[in-house]
Amino acid sequence: MERVVSGMRPTGKLHLGHLEAVLKNWVDLQQQYECFFFVADWHALTSDYADTSEIRSNTLAMVCDWLGAGLDPQRCTLFVQSLVPQHAELHLLLSAVTPLGWLERVPTYKEARQQIRDKDLNNYAFLGYPVLQAADILIYKGDYVPVGEDQVPHIELTREIARRFNNFYGPIFPEPQALLAPDPRVVGTDGRRMSKSYRNDIKITDPPEVIWEKMRTMVTDPARVRRHDPGNPDVCPVFSLHKIYSPQETIDYVNVECRRAGIGCIDCKKLLYEHAMKRIAPIADKSRAYERNIDEVRQILWEGSQRARQEAERTMEQVRAAVRLGL
Ligand code: TRP
Ligand code: SF4
Repeated sequence: MERVVSGMRPTGKLHLGHLEAVLKNWVDLQQQYECFFFVADWHALTSDYADTSEIRSNTLAMVCDWLGAGLDPQRCTLFVQSLVPQHAELHLLLSAVTPLGWLERVPTYKEARQQIRDKDLNNYAFLGYPVLQAADILIYKGDYVPVGEDQVPHIELTREIARRFNNFYGPIFPEPQALLAPDPRVVGTDGRRMSKSYRNDIKITDPPEVIWEKMRTMVTDPARVRRHDPGNPDVCPVFSLHKIYSPQETIDYVNVECRRAGIGCIDCKKLLYEHAMKRIAPIADKSRAYERNIDEVRQILWEGSQRARQEAERTMEQVRAAVRLGL
C-alpha cells in the first residue's frame, strides 16, 4: 500500500479551518493509504524554543481533536515526532548534503524573516526547518504528503534532498509528492482566512454559545447596513461558510433572499449556526470525551510512536549502512 505522511505543529485546540482543510482530508486518506500522522513538536521548537511550557498540553489537546474528527488509530499511525529520535538522526545526515542556498531560498523562510517581529528566528534550527521536514517524510519513505499550498516548496525541497542523498550514497529514498487537497478556503469572523494568529477563528470545541456569539458578530456584506438594504452574498463571509456547512436548498434560499432583502443577517446567521453545528457538535463531543480520558490519548500516541520507531529504524538501518560511518 502506498504511504502518506503528514504532520501538524502542536498549536492546541483546532479551528474550523484545520477541520475542513486538513483533518477532513486526512480522515479520507486513511481509507486508502497507509498513513503516518504526527505532532511536529520539534518543529514547534524551531521558533518557540524560549517557552516550551505549552507544547505537551497542546499536543494532547490537538490530538483529541484529531480523534474527534475521525482519525482512527486502528487505521493509521498517530504519533509524536520527539518520541521517534530517528527523525533527528536522519535530519543530521540530510543536513550534510543540503546546500545553504537551497534553504535561504525557501519562501516560508524568507517571508517569516521579513514579517515576524515578535520572535527571534535567527537560529540555526529555524533555517533547517525544511530539512527536518524532509527527514520526517523520507524516514517513512512517504509517497504522498498532504499539505497546504504554502508547504509545496518544502516538498519540492524534500525531493531535491532525496535525489542528492541518493546520488551520493545509493538509491534509498523514493521522491515524495505533495498532495494538494481541495482548499475550501474557510474564512474567519472578519472575512480573512481563518487563522489563530488573526484571532478570527472558531474552534471546534468552543462552547456552542461561544460559536453562536462569534457567528452572530461576524462581518457581513459591508454594503448591507440596514435590514431593508439588499445584500450581495458573493462578498459575504457568512455566505462563504454556508457553502461549506449548509445544504444546497439553504444556500439557494440565502442566495436569493439576501439579494432582495427578504432575509435579515441575523436570521441568515442562525441558519448557518444550525447547519454548522450538525457537523461540529458530534466532533466536539468526541474530542471532549477524549479530553476526559486523556490517558487513553497518551496510550494511543505511545503505541503509535512505538510503531513509527520500528518503521523509522528500518529505514535508518539502510541509511547507516549506505553512509558507512562507525566501525
Ligand atoms: N511544516 C508543516 C506545517 O507547518 C508541518 C510539518 C512538519 C509537516 N513536518 C512535516 C507536514 C512533514 C508534512 C510532512 O504545517
Ligand atoms: Fe451575508 Fe446572509 Fe447578511 Fe446576506 S443575509 S449579507 S449572506 S449574512
